[in-house]
Amino acid sequence: MHCPRVGLRRLASRAFSTSASVSKPLLVLGLESSADDSCASIVSSSREILSNVVLKQSQIHESFGGIHPLHAQEAHQRNLPLAIKLALERARVSLDDLDGIAFTRGPGMYGCLSVCTGAAKALAAATGKPLLGVHHMQAHALTPFLTASDDCPAPAFPFLTLLLSGGHTLLVLCTAVDRFRILATTHDESIGQSFDKAARDLEIPWDLGAGSPGAALEAFAFGRPGAGEGDKGETLRRHEFPVPFRHQLAFSYAGLRSALTRILGRESSESSSDEAGALFSTERKRELARGFMVAAFEQVEGKVALGLDHLAREGEVGPIRGLVVSGGVASNLYLRKRLRKKLDEVSSSRSGRETIPLHFPPPALCTDNAAMVAWVGLERLRRGRVDPLDVMQQSKWAIDECEADFSVVVEPPK
Ligand code: KG4
Ligand code: ZN
Repeated sequence: MHCPRVGLRRLASRAFSTSASVSKPLLVLGLESSADDSCASIVSSSREILSNVVLKQSQIHESFGGIHPLHAQEAHQRNLPLAIKLALERARVSLDDLDGIAFTRGPGMYGCLSVCTGAAKALAAATGKPLLGVHHMQAHALTPFLTASDDCPAPAFPFLTLLLSGGHTLLVLCTAVDRFRILATTHDESIGQSFDKAARDLEIPWDLGAGSPGAALEAFAFGRPGAGEGDKGETLRRHEFPVPFRHQLAFSYAGLRSALTRILGRESSESSSDEAGALFSTERKRELARGFMVAAFEQVEGKVALGLDHLAREGEVGPIRGLVVSGGVASNLYLRKRLRKKLDEVSSSRSGRETIPLHFPPPALCTDNAAMVAWVGLERLRRGRVDPLDVMQQSKWAIDECEADFSVVVEPPK
């Protein structure tokens, strides 16, 4: 299922709950600063994104070849107040109009998380509004509920979710908005990290991907986003890159990156530089970028098929009713094509198995944003699960424990 772009002031297509359809929608301010984007957004319980501000820091981090934690924290300290101001102005609401303050409590970089955590706690203390500390990966996983419309229905439970970002590579079973079971995670680095390092090793400017190294790698590999075909990639020496743990529910990306380092080292010692001083032709670099991406995604689609088989054999949950793909890497258009093809193959190879709907949030809501945080905040508010003012950020936090520790459970708003 490919959802069309979501307009910012999209009219509510469906009410959040039966009671909300007759009363005024709830409004929540979301804050996000877990990695390198300073974000603030106001979202209503009728699925309207009133504002969605994302202030990027890519110019600071490109020279480091990845996110520098201290510089990222300082940039959040500079930018987050402005993001909050813009979010309130663009939504044309005041703090008084809000029903809650949500923020990314974790997982993420500790110092970075401390910025949105401190800001949200101060706002909640000053206004007396409920405080909602949200799990970042739960927010990525539930984004398709925020972007759902008549053309693009919300996922049905139980569904599988692939959460592919700079910090995580997860295949998770989701049986309710607060119930997750991890089926596969990475043994070493995340898929996003491996793309970021490959972009650095191949010296691809981040500008090509509007400031994102992974998006730059995609644009470089395939010319324009998503133009690449699997077969084309296969012939381009995919065999130079390993696809590990083929029969296990586990991811690994370290080997893929060592393979790239090895190839670059070997070929640079064999060749002399051209007149411009370049050791590798653009075509060879493009070939390597494609091969890298094809191998990385072959691993992802393999785990989806394994996960479906595993759950079918186990027989504890009924048929899987969807696949949600979210997190920054999910904005990759080539991955979208490949997964659709894979799910079609999986269903046609098993007689009687219906095609599994694929849910991708619009690319701008796959990468980090505060609208998804506000949405999970609304979900939590509706269930009366708020946090105390002394709640702290949590840099390590497993998704299956995302709603494990509520000391404060209040009467949900009417
Ligand atoms: O979810 P996200 O925005 O931040 C984290 O929570 O980490 O994910 C960021 C990751 C980065 O590694 C970035 O390079 C990657 O997502 N990314 C992409 C694409 N756009 C962003 N990777 C591959 N293809 C893309 N189009
Ligand atoms: Zn993220």
